[in-house]
Amino acid sequence: MARLLLGVSGGIAAYKALELVRLATKAGHSVRVIQTPTSELFVGVASFEGITGAPVLRSEFARDPLRGAFPGDPLPAHEPISHLQLVANADAFLVAPASANTIAKLAHGHADNLLTSAALAARCPLVVAPAMNDAMYEHAATQANLALLRERGARIVDPGVGPLASKGEHGIGRLAEPAELLAACEAAIAGASLPPTASLAGVRVLVTGGGTREPIDSVRYVGNRSSGRMGYALAEQAARRGAAVTVVAANVSLPAPTGVRVVPVETAAQLADACAEAFPRCDVLLMAAAVADFRPADPADTKIKKTAADAPDALALEPTPDVLSGLAGARRPDQTIVGFAAEHGEGALAYAREKLARKRLDAIVVNDISRPDIGFDTVENEVTIVTPAGERPVARAPKAEVAAAILDAVAELRAGRASTPA
Ligand code: CTP
Repeated sequence: MARLLLGVSGGIAAYKALELVRLATKAGHSVRVIQTPTSELFVGVASFEGITGAPVLRSEFARDPLRGAFPGDPLPAHEPISHLQLVANADAFLVAPASANTIAKLAHGHADNLLTSAALAARCPLVVAPAMNDAMYEHAATQANLALLRERGARIVDPGVGPLASKGEHGIGRLAEPAELLAACEAAIAGASLPPTASLAGVRVLVTGGGTREPIDSVRYVGNRSSGRMGYALAEQAARRGAAVTVVAANVSLPAPTGVRVVPVETAAQLADACAEAFPRCDVLLMAAAVADFRPADPADTKIKKTAADAPDALALEPTPDVLSGLAGARRPDQTIVGFAAEHGEGALAYAREKLARKRLDAIVVNDISRPDIGFDTVENEVTIVTPAGERPVARAPKAEVAAAILDAVAELRAGRASTPA
């Protein structure tokens, strides 16, 4: 059971916050609600009070009958400053729906109402669920504000695509579903309560996953069998440990993990661009994508006809840039970089050690692709984590467990670095 503080800002999606509160209380969590003045135009306090069994707070200057306590907790003897006490008691602070205006205020540290003042005073994980019109969401200002919040360790639950509030409009901006919001809060709370050795609270993690596709013509491509399961397992585990996660996903058709930002790409070149953009703002890079080493040198713009007189009888290939080596070459000393290597049987570890040094990595995760039961497009994996200090075998297990072992190694590498004198 956790104490969840919900901040509701103005927007039609405020009605969905009621369902979130219902789900959270049903799951055994105790919930307190702060409403902004504008949100009251959409949903009244009585609805939230009915479900939470606690008064809704609307202003820094109104007295809180519960003195900052959550339902079921004893009331303090003194009368504390309510917004400070509420966030001190909360295990997570969820802002849902987060309007463009509230997001801007959170990003810039405004404290002009109870919700924003409480957010500024919060030391617990902050989860922000945007909901607005698509044009407002896609506006550079909103995107920059969300990036700023993400950078500071806030967990952003991306809005969905679908019909929007104004009649006939369709696009991105729908508040994520209540179950997803609750899962994001629970993951944030679980991450923050881990011991410091395993926690990635406030750490920015960039994951790549899936396999790139390199066009031969407008419909055909050269690809590989990577499903993206390992990348998504890493992203999910990192998010559970409190990290702010971005996944560059190459042709992944699995459902995205909750609370992580997904950047879909197709080709090695697009993956390289997406990584170049995100890498400077990450603390940890987990490069699990199977990136093509070669691509067709001269892809056709249209579909090549098999009957065409000039139909090629061979495919000319050119090498792709090694994204991981490029990023590692531009790394900051405080960044942790983990590569992945698919190797065949004998000599796998020796190759991996050579790659670790050549690509300037902190660790390389090796899996043996001569085994049909693990690795590509399977639900389980068995790997060896190679670091300059040695090797750690991870026995065959579901990819979630393998991902957890890899993140343990990352946390150790980061802790080791922090304790190494410069
Ligand atoms: N990688 C990359 N860019 C490429 C190719 C690979 O960033 N163009 C990354 C992969 O994401 C992975 C690691 O590099 O983290 C794999 O290294 P690589 O040398 O390509 O290994 P393999 O392709 O597995 O093996 P080999 O070099 O032996 O062909």
